[in-house]
Amino acid sequence: MESSQHRGASPETQKTVRINIYRGDAEGGEFVEYDVPLVEGMVVLDAVLYVQAHISPDLAVRWNCKAAHCGSCGGEVNGRPKLLCKTRVDDYEGEEIRVSPMRAFPLIKDLVTDVSWNYEVARSIPEFKPAEKAPFTMYEEDVERLYEPKRCIECFLCQDVCHVLRSHHKHPAFAGPRFFAKIQSLEMHPMDTGHRTEYLKEGRGGIGFCNITKCCTEVCPEHINITDNSIIPLKERVVGDYYDPAKWLMRKIRGRRNGE
Ligand code: SF4
Ligand code: SF4
Ligand code: FES
Repeated sequence: MESSQHRGASPETQKTVRINIYRGDAEGGEFVEYDVPLVEGMVVLDAVLYVQAHISPDLAVRWNCKAAHCGSCGGEVNGRPKLLCKTRVDDYEGEEIRVSPMRAFPLIKDLVTDVSWNYEVARSIPEFKPAEKAPFTMYEEDVERLYEPKRCIECFLCQDVCHVLRSHHKHPAFAGPRFFAKIQSLEMHPMDTGHRTEYLKEGRGGIGFCNITKCCTEVCPEHINITDNSIIPLKERVVGDYYDPAKWLMRKIRGRRNGE
């Protein structure tokens, strides 16, 4: 698509960086080219905010902490999911920089997408069900296993990169990697007595759609090993519950007790 072009005010001597930002809404849009004064160490969000402050005040972008903590500035740089506040402009030296919204979610305006589908998925997950009797024992390895998914900042970059959502649009039938990490933290809590393998296999979880490409792990800014530490153990649990005859029987009995 052809780019429109805007230049920011900057002294003749100051170096500039050219940045192409997607401008549009659900009806359509295009990349618009902007020249922004280059500041040492600047991140893509700095460039976008410069455009908003000095060239195009109606540019929509979501951000909050500017410190890679809140997860709100997720977008795509050259087609790759990124936190805009953690992506340095000088990483793209000599390359064109194209900033666009996350592709897996409906576009509201410019760089802002509607991520509310993720919160619906969160609500659909069978909740934490604590054991009635104390005491229970928590070992150090349990704490480590639970700590990793708790680093999640809900940026949804992993959801954005996952081809099941991004290319195949399986949103009604697939929870996505962020929620596999969440489910792992519930399932592996030593105090939890809930059951989520039905949700994963037959319900909205849809873990069978995941073919362990590891793309989600690669884009996670918190370096959560979603595939090895969440998805694979959950798939093993599903296999155990569904194909181990004793566990299969237990699941059936439990289902009958719950009136399923
Ligand atoms: S490993 Fe699974 S969940 Fe992660 S991106 Fe690939 S298909 Fe999606
Ligand atoms: S798991 Fe990682 S990529 Fe996915 S939402 Fe959490 S922090 Fe973001
Ligand atoms: S602005 Fe908070 S993570 Fe980027």
